[in-house]
Amino acid sequence: TKHLLGIRELVPRDIQLILDTATQFKEVLQRPIKKVPSLRDVTIVNLFYENSTRTRISFELAEKRLSADTINFSASGSSVSKGETLLDTVNNILSMKVDMVVMRHSASGAPHFLAKHIPAAIVNAGDGINEHPTQALLDAFSIREKLGTLEGKKIAIIGDIMHSRVALSNLYLLKKMGAEVMVAGPPTLIPTYMKEAFDVRVEYNLQKALEWCDVANVLRIQLERQNQVLFSSLREYNLAYGVKKSLLDRLDKEIIVMHPGPINRGVELDSDVADSKQSIILQQVENGVAVRMAVLYLLAGRGESQNN
Ligand code: CP
Repeated sequence: TKHLLGIRELVPRDIQLILDTATQFKEVLQRPIKKVPSLRDVTIVNLFYENSTRTRISFELAEKRLSADTINFSASGSSVSKGETLLDTVNNILSMKVDMVVMRHSASGAPHFLAKHIPAAIVNAGDGINEHPTQALLDAFSIREKLGTLEGKKIAIIGDIMHSRVALSNLYLLKKMGAEVMVAGPPTLIPTYMKEAFDVRVEYNLQKALEWCDVANVLRIQLERQNQVLFSSLREYNLAYGVKKSLLDRLDKEIIVMHPGPINRGVELDSDVADSKQSIILQQVENGVAVRMAVLYLLAGRGESQNN
């Protein structure tokens, strides 16, 4: 069975194929009838053990556009509260003839564990602080759409690198696809192993990071994952590391601003930047549907031989 557990396991050709397939699906999504019959024989469960707005709706929409049957499962309101294990929960759902599992979980490695123990295809929709592969794919798709290619482009990933599965998946993907990558933010939020492990630039000065990059991918401060006091206040974080219009106005070029959402407005990103024409945040969300259609379509084995 094929899975999408992380970008780490992919080779550049896999990433290229997913992005090219997503381009075709984006064209489908511009048509008056946005639905194709590709997965009408496939049943998919969206298994969310952790909250989500974009990823969950995006997967469900992608599945519906591909004509798959979908089931939505939230841990809250389920028998997980009575102590049922992850494996028991999934095996019970699979006994009702489900083919694919899209899973978000707060534990890093949860989808890898499932992939070892169950026969269905697993798609990682975000596992703890490990990976969020479809977010990195939609980010790459959005950059490629704007700049034509990833190769040689300068991408700065800014903010809470330490707790971010989006940062890790982006790092794997961007390096594999030949982009130049910088991680920027406060030293307390950038793991020291990162520079050597990923061969990336590290920058603690936000203005210098913005001067260097073509694209700034600004990350949310993950308040739910902080286990130490990093700043005396979020206001202090905003003063030192918040991306503001006044900083962008000082540059001699117009950079692209991205954010995976949800935004802490006025903390890592000010509203006058988030809502400006430099921001492609809502285009990222739009592209997520086409990218997830591509992932599900390819994992189901509906490759080039079959028409949409
Ligand atoms: N970008 C992202 O994963 O958002 P959600 O947590 O709302 O799915």
